[in-house]
Amino acid sequence: MEDDLSEASIRRALTGRFGAPLRCLDEVGSTNTVALRWAAEEGAPEGALVVTEHQTEGRGRWGRRWLSQPGKLLQFSLILSPDLAGDDVGLLTTALGVACARGIETCTGLAARVKWPNDVTIGGRKVSGILVESVLSGGAIQTAVAGVGINVRWDQDEIPPDIAARATSIDRELGSSGGAPPRRAELLGAILAALEELYPFGDPDAVIREALTRSDVIGTKVSIRYPGGGTVSGRAVGLAPSGALRLEVDGEVREIKVGEVEHTAPGS
Ligand code: BTN
Repeated sequence: MEDDLSEASIRRALTGRFGAPLRCLDEVGSTNTVALRWAAEEGAPEGALVVTEHQTEGRGRWGRRWLSQPGKLLQFSLILSPDLAGDDVGLLTTALGVACARGIETCTGLAARVKWPNDVTIGGRKVSGILVESVLSGGAIQTAVAGVGINVRWDQDEIPPDIAARATSIDRELGSSGGAPPRRAELLGAILAALEELYPFGDPDAVIREALTRSDVIGTKVSIRYPGGGTVSGRAVGLAPSGALRLEVDGEVREIKVGEVEHTAPGS
């Protein structure tokens, strides 16, 4: 199946205002870096999109690397100007997770879920990661670059075993059903169309409601690791309008804006 990410195939798949202007690059260090520079140096507007076949220096959260295989993943960065305080960027990350999950479901029929704060999962394994990087002005977001990576087709032999145990790809999940993975341009079009239905957050509750119904974490016991080190354990009971995780610890509910879920167990 032809699965090119050419400018022409992407333009054909786009249905809304996101994706214009468009930069398609065969190979790049990081689409987030290109998009941040495009916005800062050339004033790229909201909706501008950078898409690539391969990243050599893809970034994940907390300085981690994001692995890419040429022609196999969908990797893009979308420039946005949400009317949000820098502290509430979690709502944007949450909306992207919901949009990716909807897009994957629309194009594959697979049940995709969201794992707070920035992963999309299928069958409990990570299929997509989201990295939102923002430029702030007086505490408000001036420009946000929403970077998304989705494992569409993966060469399993090239995946380190520790990653293969907790991550997956669309083709792996479709494997037993015999279904073909979607064209990446169509998947991109479906995700951006879903995001446009949620954005610019006139109704943040709609984002939160869908994230709750799709959540892998809510209702389970979790351990949250903070970026600076240290953990807190409790029961995930909800999401705040800012996208923060509501964690019940010793009978009190705390809101956690930044952290990572280390471990989940069934709720009690
Ligand atoms: C994570 O899981 O920690 C986030 C991964 C985000 C990867 C995407 S791929 C497109 C964009 N460019 C990057 O360098 N990173 C994001």
